[in-house]
Amino acid sequence: MKAPLSTSSRRVALVTGSNRGIGETVVRELRKAGYATVSNGRSARKGPGDLHVRADVATPSGARKAVAAARKSFGRLDLLVCGVGHFFYTPVSEMDVEAWDGLLTSNLKSTWLCCREALPLLRKARGVVITVGGPVTQTVRGNPRAVGYQMAKTALTVFTKSLAQAEAPRGLRVNMVNPGFIRTYAYSRKEIAEAAARVPARRTGDPADIAAAVLWLASDAAAYVNGAVVDVGGGLWV
Ligand SMILES: NC(=O)c1ccc[n+]([C@@H]2O[C@H](COP(=O)([O-])OP(=O)(O)OC[C@H]3O[C@@H](n4cnc5c(N)ncnc54)[C@H](OP(=O)(O)O)[C@@H]3O)[C@@H](O)[C@H]2O)c1
Repeated sequence: MKAPLSTSSRRVALVTGSNRGIGETVVRELRKAGYATVSNGRSARKGPGDLHVRADVATPSGARKAVAAARKSFGRLDLLVCGVGHFFYTPVSEMDVEAWDGLLTSNLKSTWLCCREALPLLRKARGVVITVGGPVTQTVRGNPRAVGYQMAKTALTVFTKSLAQAEAPRGLRVNMVNPGFIRTYAYSRKEIAEAAARVPARRTGDPADIAAAVLWLASDAAAYVNGAVVDVGGGLWV
């Protein structure tokens, strides 16, 4: 068996869905802060991690592959950031089986599968899980234009809080970060300008805003923060 890349006491982080967008920046910032990092995505595009794992983490085998890679290369796992979570509009009346399955699988099942695989390592490290919600999960509300996404992220909140309560006695912390409108490749300039006008802070967010919240929640400064839902949206929908 190959020797691990590093046997030092450096904290190790796995960030799913991180070959672009918010996840990519989270990995870069974690690296700057001294973490050994594992990035992930399904396509051939490589992420910025010390190690990159190509895997569909919404499948049991993909989640297993991503966590096993962290274990084999670094021998431990201190932080799991569950970044995968597709968004697309699904009006209630037009919801079909594909949209239902796709949104719940991408946003919810991927997180559950990765947590399930990573728990043994995270328990050993008394580690941290951070799930990624949306600007809509702080309270239970309807969303007639994007019902699938809303359902999935709301259920993810329940999952996050349940896991936090279950694992707190073992020293784990599980929290959720809720991005508001964050500037990624997915939005045009026009969309960003329109979105900014709706945000009380009058600006959209940068992926670095999310990375800062992740770093804080992962740090010992947040040692007593557990089961929390942290909005990072400039006051949007609070
Ligand atoms: N951007 C926003 O304004 C915003 C607002 C609220 C919430 N969020 C949430 O924040 C998170 C990140 O958003 P984002 O805008 O950065 O997303 P994104 O740009 O669409 O990035 C998604 C990333 O996930 C990867 N991915 C997708 N499905 C995967 C799977 N099954 N297994 C492994 N990797 C997968 C993609 O790479 P491949 O294509 O190579 O797989 C890509 O790297 C999501 O949970 C999203 O719901 C974003």
